[in-house]
Amino acid sequence: MKKFAVFGNPIAHSLSPAIHNMFAQLTGEYIDYRIIESELDNFENDVSAFFNEEGVVGCNITAPFKERAYTLCEGSCNAEAKTAQAVNTLHKQGDKLLGYTTDGMGLVADLIRHVGSLENKRVLLLGAGGATRGVVEPLLKSKVASLFITNRTMSKAEAIVNAIGEDNFVAVGQSALDDVQAEIVINCTSASLTGDLPAVSAGAFKQCALAYDMSYGRGETRFMAFAKEHGALATVDGFGMLVEQAAAAFTIWTGKTPDTAEVIKALRPK
Ligand code: ATR
Repeated sequence: MKKFAVFGNPIAHSLSPAIHNMFAQLTGEYIDYRIIESELDNFENDVSAFFNEEGVVGCNITAPFKERAYTLCEGSCNAEAKTAQAVNTLHKQGDKLLGYTTDGMGLVADLIRHVGSLENKRVLLLGAGGATRGVVEPLLKSKVASLFITNRTMSKAEAIVNAIGEDNFVAVGQSALDDVQAEIVINCTSASLTGDLPAVSAGAFKQCALAYDMSYGRGETRFMAFAKEHGALATVDGFGMLVEQAAAAFTIWTGKTPDTAEVIKALRPK
């Protein structure tokens, strides 16, 4: 049996065990996937003890430990993890611990399910925290025409743009959002967690085919309602991204690709 876990705090209500158990069922893997709620001062010890157990293949990491997990495998990470300075997936290979951020792959996979190829699309990101940093590179790699970013605190958006240094990745202030004409607008802020609307203008949704909120499990968020009201043709929450980032981790660990559409349908909170 292959052993896995998700580390976080709090973590009791995580959907990860249900998602990975269903992936295992669908792909014929025999797994044990458990929840580990680390004390804040004991995370590194818990990870080390877990990887010393017989049969352990990998684990997922969630808040507040993603940045600390990155320092455990800093030299052996994918590009997204380096940009985000955070990992959500650890994989044991021999005596080496490899780190990945699969959030961006998850987002891109879910966006493609909703709108088809991202090639030549104009995409606007709201927010400039860790969630944004984890998805910028996979979005640019999927050949979007332009990637725009805005944030309540513009200096943070500009810092991400400068760190990446791609000509088609630009920071735009709120007053210029009407001219962006984005086809996809993605809420990467944590505003929905507190029932708030992120810093955005009504005009940002004039050409919008899809308004995507990375948060999930909250029904229609204020961002989704605002986007719809101002012209977005479709709105969706981030549950698909949750399942897709889990699937990317599952593939890293097992080499198998589960049918995510089936899992999304079965496990989407009612
Ligand atoms: P994380 O690392 O989890 O993404 P973060 O670094 O705190 O969290 O970033 C949260 C993002 O959501 C930031 O872009 C933040 O805006 P600021 O950079 O101006 O702080 C944004 N955010 C959070 N609450 C918000 C709110 N109520 N309205 C607008 N933006 C908000």
